[in-house]
Amino acid sequence: MAENTIPLCELSNGTRIPQLGFGVFLVDPPEAERVVSDALEVGYRHIDTATIYKNEEGVGRAIASSGIARDDLFVTTKLWNADQGADTTLPAFEASLDRLGLDYVDLYLIHWPAPARDAYVDSWRVLERIEKSGRAKAIGVSNFLIPHLDRLIDETGVIPAVNQIELHPYHQRRELVEFCQGNDIRVEAWGPLSQGKSDLLENPVIVAAAAAHGKSSAQVVLRWHLEQGNIIFPKTTRRERAIENLDLFTFELSSEERSAITALDRELRLGGDPLEVN
Ligand SMILES: NC(=O)c1ccc[n+]([C@@H]2O[C@H](COP(=O)([O-])OP(=O)(O)OC[C@H]3O[C@@H](n4cnc5c(N)ncnc54)[C@H](OP(=O)(O)O)[C@@H]3O)[C@@H](O)[C@H]2O)c1
Repeated sequence: MAENTIPLCELSNGTRIPQLGFGVFLVDPPEAERVVSDALEVGYRHIDTATIYKNEEGVGRAIASSGIARDDLFVTTKLWNADQGADTTLPAFEASLDRLGLDYVDLYLIHWPAPARDAYVDSWRVLERIEKSGRAKAIGVSNFLIPHLDRLIDETGVIPAVNQIELHPYHQRRELVEFCQGNDIRVEAWGPLSQGKSDLLENPVIVAAAAAHGKSSAQVVLRWHLEQGNIIFPKTTRRERAIENLDLFTFELSSEERSAITALDRELRLGGDPLEVN
């Protein structure tokens, strides 16, 4: 499937982001270059990494050897919690750029609010400066709850372009999603397949929709995300699954299928609690 079939979403500052990308959480650093090279080869143009994944170098090497024009790629990385603060954020950002071998990233995120550190507002002011300098085309946050977003906006007046949160059919976060939509904050759904940690792909509702369309359960879940307007970047180390996860644009869910999947919500959080990850 050609990359130009992936819709582009416009962020609040006009930056355009491919709605479907490729995530590299838990991709071993020695494997990252091969995995990301495969992803770029099969058509992904949006890569989501983070300092804490320890694979920014591999991502950077894959980008450098891909021959793809920098303008045609969208690269996100994230500030790790231990680097939050007025004096530590900029050096951490610059170290990420060095590891990636890039002059700029497309999106830079505060990875977690880490409330016990009480430093995300200080970091956010640094991210504003980074964005103004052009070294991040857009800035945002991840794992922020409504009180964290409220505080950021109240104290700085600058609204994040995205909030990257755990979101899948078993954990739909409707109140938070509506808050983001109401404030022009795009929702990025991490763990779109529930990280392989639940029975989501065996759920009869998903299996029935997959059979009806001649698609896999993973494709049905990813298609549901796209139809909800979520930005996603499923992770896989397997090239054949990378191809499968891109092949989402030749079918549409019926409104009944969409509603049945939306009715699967069970507030099942599989990752960390944003109030406790510090
Ligand atoms: N901001 C945050 O705090 C945060 C937290 C977690 C993740 N993220 C980002 O979000 C991305 C996606 O989330 P995630 O990696 O945690 O989980 P995910 O994409 O929901 O699930 C990945 C799991 O699903 C499997 N998988 C992938 N494609 C499949 C398919 N077609 N059929 C069956 N199984 C499939 C993968 O196994 P194989 O690799 O064996 O194929 C892996 O075990 C991450 O890579 C990262 O970039 C952000």
